[in-house]
Amino acid sequence: MRLTILGGGGFRVPLVYGALLADRADGRVTQVVLHDVDTDRLKAVTRVLAEQADGVPDAPEVRVTTDVDDALRGADFVFSAIRVGGLEGRVHDEQVALAEGVLGQETVGAGGIAYGLRTVPVAVDIARRVARLAPEAWVINFTNPAGLVTEAMSRHLGDRVIGICDSPVGLGRRIARALGVDPRRAWIDYAGLNHLGWVRGLRVAGRDELPRLLADPRLLGSFEEGRLFGAQWLRSLGAIPNEYLHYYYFHREAVRAHRQAGRTRGAFLRDQQARFYREARDPDTSALAAWNRTRAEREATYMAENREAAGAGEREADDLSGGYEKVALALMRAIARDERTTLILNVRNRGTLSVLDSEAVVEVPCLVDASGAHPVSVDPLPGHATGLVCAVKAVEREVLAAAESGSRETAVKAFALHPLVDSVAVARRLVDGYIAVHPGLAYLR
Ligand code: G6P
Ligand code: MN
Repeated sequence: MRLTILGGGGFRVPLVYGALLADRADGRVTQVVLHDVDTDRLKAVTRVLAEQADGVPDAPEVRVTTDVDDALRGADFVFSAIRVGGLEGRVHDEQVALAEGVLGQETVGAGGIAYGLRTVPVAVDIARRVARLAPEAWVINFTNPAGLVTEAMSRHLGDRVIGICDSPVGLGRRIARALGVDPRRAWIDYAGLNHLGWVRGLRVAGRDELPRLLADPRLLGSFEEGRLFGAQWLRSLGAIPNEYLHYYYFHREAVRAHRQAGRTRGAFLRDQQARFYREARDPDTSALAAWNRTRAEREATYMAENREAAGAGEREADDLSGGYEKVALALMRAIARDERTTLILNVRNRGTLSVLDSEAVVEVPCLVDASGAHPVSVDPLPGHATGLVCAVKAVEREVLAAAESGSRETAVKAFALHPLVDSVAVARRLVDGYIAVHPGLAYLR
């Protein structure tokens, strides 16, 4: 079985390869094709993978290419993990927004819109190529903003593209642990959009354990989201929000914390990764050791400003293991081997959340088997969550329309309608500011 990774020189690729190495079952991936536009990054990552594979019998063979069509032909699965504009682009997404006094974040608010506007045209081009060259392949989208990018690709690939995020499963795991239940036995009632979802229940043997958590301040103080949002607010909501909702519920504090941070998350990662790619070129050092060091530091500092702003303390040490690769592998396995499983994924709505149309990509529990990922029916969201989800979906639709038409005014509309952008005048300046720094937005006229 052949897996193609677009963005194959990316920093997370060794996580995926590590998970592939651990998979000994029949029908596992035997060939990995890495595609990237940057050969230096490909070289660095292949050195890491070679060290990972050292001593592992029949490790998946790795091939690299800079020709995207060559990468796609013959693929059974395609992981799309591209970053249009690189981390330098992420820094601009953050800084232009912060300079206007609005949230500068990779996936939420103005920064997420800017990232979406330059990523959608590239993602659509990839989707068209897949439809032509590998129509039987399944595409797993990792690229942020994941819900929006998955929806853009689904217009060309239908339900053959599935978006993934590790945050819902991570949240479910933390809640289960706080309750002292085995996460594998728990049904997580989670619904919303990517980075905009809520856990409304956690059922073990048919019984909802979430009320027990919400009633106990000590338990609520024992895990990250409990401390981040505060026991009182969680009780008011009657649900546990995805940590990205901190940007909505504590918008002002988050903007202040980001402005005070001195260096944005993107700038930290840009510098940190530049160091890794430099170290990985040195023939006298272990590329794998350099990668491990960088990875540990990255995970330990994830969302640090938010936790500090909320006085929420350190991230749990045992939660520093990524989850992306695990979700991706579980999904690929369920499809390839018809191993029926349930995963929280980004798929077309098909009636699941009745306030959204059937083409809207949502993040909900799905039943996965050889025929793909099928959203399971969930209870409707409460009023305020419905409001946020509909507002943000409307923004996503404007982003998709702007990417299709190239209309600058439609891009302005996308920014102006976002709940975290508080003025049309600000939206206009954001569009001007982003076009000035992003070559990938030159198409907007
Ligand atoms: C979480 C989110 C991802 C995000 C990742 C890394 O896993 O779900 O969407 O890409 O964190 O964030 P970072 O700030 O380290 O790039
Ligand atoms: Mn995510």
